[in-house]
Amino acid sequence: MPEAKEVIVRVKRQVSPQGSPYWEEFALPWRPAMNVIICLRDIAENPVTRDGKKTAPISYDSNCLEEVCGSCAMLINGKARMACSALVDKLDQPIRLEPFSKFPVVRDLAVDRQVLFENLKAVKAWVPIDGTYDLGPGPRMTAEQQEAAYPLSRCISCCCCMEVCPQFNDETGFVGAATIAQVRLFNTHPTGAALERERLAALMGDGGIQECGYAQNCVEACPKDIPLTRSISEVGGAVMKQAIGDLFRK
Ligand code: SF4
Ligand code: SF4
Ligand code: FES
Repeated sequence: MPEAKEVIVRVKRQVSPQGSPYWEEFALPWRPAMNVIICLRDIAENPVTRDGKKTAPISYDSNCLEEVCGSCAMLINGKARMACSALVDKLDQPIRLEPFSKFPVVRDLAVDRQVLFENLKAVKAWVPIDGTYDLGPGPRMTAEQQEAAYPLSRCISCCCCMEVCPQFNDETGFVGAATIAQVRLFNTHPTGAALERERLAALMGDGGIQECGYAQNCVEACPKDIPLTRSISEVGGAVMKQAIGDLFRK
């Protein structure tokens, strides 16, 4: 009888935000169509390392299991990507799993990505329709407007674009590509455009759009193929126009 196939997974672990990282290796029975989340679930069912040591199940985030919720992002063989769509058969072994390096580790593979949500708040990434009375129907969007907006609306807040960005670090405080793309999305929305000036103003100054070095790592890492570099150049042009206009208005 042929030997049963094994999947070897190495996981970088950390018990708490202050803890020191360490590695553990696991050998799992191979199954067809396995992905990285299935590996982590199998480990949770039988948390024993390859050398027979009983250990704690691995902490990680996941929800939708179909690349929609954005929560399962991690470094897989050194690449920022979604664990639920990372098929074992397409990965070199041993499969190396690490938490994102630019976000605080909560535990094991789970990181705190709050910074993205703070950045989205700072640029008011929403359509302002809250109120106590019926505002009536909004302006209709043309098919062309909808087509342009759709790719931008696919952002799943996974933060892959920020993890791979050389400019996203504590020194620059750069907001990152995802936030800039959402500025473009909401500024091109007929109702959302009411906050256009405020959004562009939020991207000026330290940590703003001028921090982008245009290295384009972001667009390559984005699992949803969001046109990030095009968004950065369009929003960058609008920020510049507004800044110059403001200068003359003074
Ligand atoms: S183009 Fe480069 S510097 Fe700009 S957001 Fe993307 S990865 Fe970062
Ligand atoms: S722009 Fe792409 S990589 Fe960045 S958070 Fe959104 S989906 Fe993820
Ligand atoms: S579990 Fe939702 S994107 Fe992977």
